[in-house]
Amino acid sequence: MSTIITWLGHSCFSIRAGKHEVLVDPFLDDSPTAPLKAADVAADFILLTHGHFDHVADAVSIATRTGATVVANYEICEWLKGQGIAEENTVALNSGGEVLLPIGRVKLTTALHSSSLPDGTYGGVAGGFILSLENETLYLAGDTALTLDLKLIGLVGIDLAVIPIGDQFTMGPDDSVEAVKLLNPRQVMPCHYNTWPPIKQDAAAWADRIRSDTAAEPIVLQPGEEFSF
Ligand code: NI
Ligand code: MN
Repeated sequence: MSTIITWLGHSCFSIRAGKHEVLVDPFLDDSPTAPLKAADVAADFILLTHGHFDHVADAVSIATRTGATVVANYEICEWLKGQGIAEENTVALNSGGEVLLPIGRVKLTTALHSSSLPDGTYGGVAGGFILSLENETLYLAGDTALTLDLKLIGLVGIDLAVIPIGDQFTMGPDDSVEAVKLLNPRQVMPCHYNTWPPIKQDAAAWADRIRSDTAAEPIVLQPGEEFSF
């Protein structure tokens, strides 16, 4: 079965994996670039990379409405329970841990970033995800700086890496090119840029650098656009 990934702006993605809808870092209602609202999105699974508002803002409302299973670090899962999400609808991981879910294997990777929840609660350690789907391996970096850990993450063999390029809060375009060299994915997609003026970036120029300096193929979407494998 084919896999389709749709960029919903910022770091939010919807991934259709077989018959399952996977929603990553839902930030829709208050996002200046989101093509749809939280009330209009489907989800069987919700993956949260860390606790910052621009990654979890709509997680509780969508999980409550859809009954989706939320996969996140332990601290975020504890916080979700306090927000009324049933424990059986959460899957708690910690860095390096992997679980087998109906969509495939899901591993929480390290990321070099902070993590606190919108109400100030400690949000555990920021992470990313490796999704080993039926036919593809996806890496969703979450918010991260350039770090040598990316070399280890890439050892799994990544088909598509989704990485931040916005700068200021995450790695920027220069470091993201180095990150792609470490990850060595077949294809790479940028995120966490153009949401607000401080993280405005030229994605076309970035794509040219990926083509000339790395072995990966850049995939640049507009919010609302999809890419299928
Ligand atoms: Ni963040
Ligand atoms: Mn962020």
